[in-house]
Amino acid sequence: MHPDSSGSGFVVVANRLPVDLERLPDGTTRWKRSPGGLVTALEPVLRNNKGAWVGWAGVPDVDLDPIVEDGLELHPVPLSGDEVADYYEGFSNATLWPLYHDVIVRPVYDRQWWQAYVQVNRRFAEYTAKVAAEGATVWVQDYQLQLVPKMLRMLRPDLTIGFFLHIPFPPVELFMQMPWRTEIVEGLLGADLIGFHLPGGAQNFLYLARRLAGQPTSRGNVGVRSKLGVVQVGFRTVRVGAFPISITSTELDEYSRRRSVRERAAKIRAELGNPKTILLGVDRLDYTKGIDIRLAALEELLHDGRVDPADTVMVQLATPSRERVESYKQMRGDIERQVGRINGEFSRVGYPVVHYLHRPIPRDELIAFFVAADVMVVTPLRDGMNLVAKEYVACQGSLNGALVLSEFTGAAAELRQAYLCNPHDLDSVKDALIGAIDDDRDTRRRRMRSLRRQVLSHDVDRWARAFLDALATDRVAGSALLSD
Ligand code: ADP
Ligand code: G6P
Repeated sequence: MHPDSSGSGFVVVANRLPVDLERLPDGTTRWKRSPGGLVTALEPVLRNNKGAWVGWAGVPDVDLDPIVEDGLELHPVPLSGDEVADYYEGFSNATLWPLYHDVIVRPVYDRQWWQAYVQVNRRFAEYTAKVAAEGATVWVQDYQLQLVPKMLRMLRPDLTIGFFLHIPFPPVELFMQMPWRTEIVEGLLGADLIGFHLPGGAQNFLYLARRLAGQPTSRGNVGVRSKLGVVQVGFRTVRVGAFPISITSTELDEYSRRRSVRERAAKIRAELGNPKTILLGVDRLDYTKGIDIRLAALEELLHDGRVDPADTVMVQLATPSRERVESYKQMRGDIERQVGRINGEFSRVGYPVVHYLHRPIPRDELIAFFVAADVMVVTPLRDGMNLVAKEYVACQGSLNGALVLSEFTGAAAELRQAYLCNPHDLDSVKDALIGAIDDDRDTRRRRMRSLRRQVLSHDVDRWARAFLDALATDRVAGSALLSD
């Protein structure tokens, strides 16, 4: 079925559609859920708002017609094989991704990749201009599409345009490396409202808007869902704010309490040999996630005799990600060697210490793992938010679990009662693990109760409402703030 030709009043634009087209060996195709936190968060929001979604179907060289699924219009944007290599794997994931994640891996600055980024951003803007109804609200997502707001405004000045960055916005000193830094800042300034997870990202952006784009901005501190910053771009007022993203907490809490889920969780524990402690990691296989760090911490704790391999099991679920990008290939090899070394040294026959699964896990099975785990280990070197941490908390209605969480995640700003650690300091990670494993029941329960209050009262609907309400608020009201 084709969407209504009059266009949509609410359009989300993201590099990926919520589903990927999968080509099977027999030549047939099917749709499967796309990886990553952006899709986890936005899909329920879109379903509630009955909008349209413009994005890539995850495979090169296919030109697909729009489809309508459960009232949600999907508009696939085609990418050629070269564009996937230069725009997606290149500029998005070997330039912007490492630059915005504190240069954990050295970003590559390649002029041909930049040209592809400009070309593909223009295509997304053109598709969106065709899909959006007169006066529609368009919400552009993430680092792959930072030029779209300006391009779209030139094509369709009638639209209200929001932009949200799902990854960290880097410190000014790092952003200044980018050869096309002014173009990126000006691209974002095409939006009416630019959202970041944390106030720090919003403030970095305000500084750059002054310095690179030469626009006057407000100078006061940005708050969380409050006290927006302002940039005056000619006659337009662009607002800048912090909106920490979340999950469908209540739904997940309810689902995780089902008898079938609890039975599956008990079975998982039995399948693992009924250990005293199950440690769990759940990530895309990405160098930002610090999977190597948690394995190194576990390995040292086993060596030191502070963790007993006879009663402790670590499960690491790792979804394949960006597999053709060199830094990802290298990291995969490193992690698999680490897993092999730990198991070689500490496992018994039939009882590996580390269970490593390199594949996406179906959602209901994943929830059973969250219920089963005694300690969730989240150790990124840098992460915009980290939804996995919040998903675990939502699934711990029993209050028995403990969360080890890196200070360098957006989630750490909200989840202060987690066992926080500095992933650059292995002793800090080891101590957080030991605290989470060994603390008495009452301490663990008190901490988990406090985490659950936060997660259950700040769900993804609240995030979307805060952003969309701010976007809908009279834009002129913001300019008064320029004087503060
Ligand atoms: P990112 O967006 O960087 O991937 P997040 O933690 O914010 O990180 O979001 C990841 C999302 O992907 C979560 O919803 C999580 O449940 C899901 N996910 C991560 N790893 C797996 C896995 N191995 N199998 C299935 N889903 C996964
Ligand atoms: C993160 C990014 C998303 C991205 C996802 C999966 O969540 O913020 O924009 O879609 O990772 O990565 P991929 O490269 O597979 O789309």
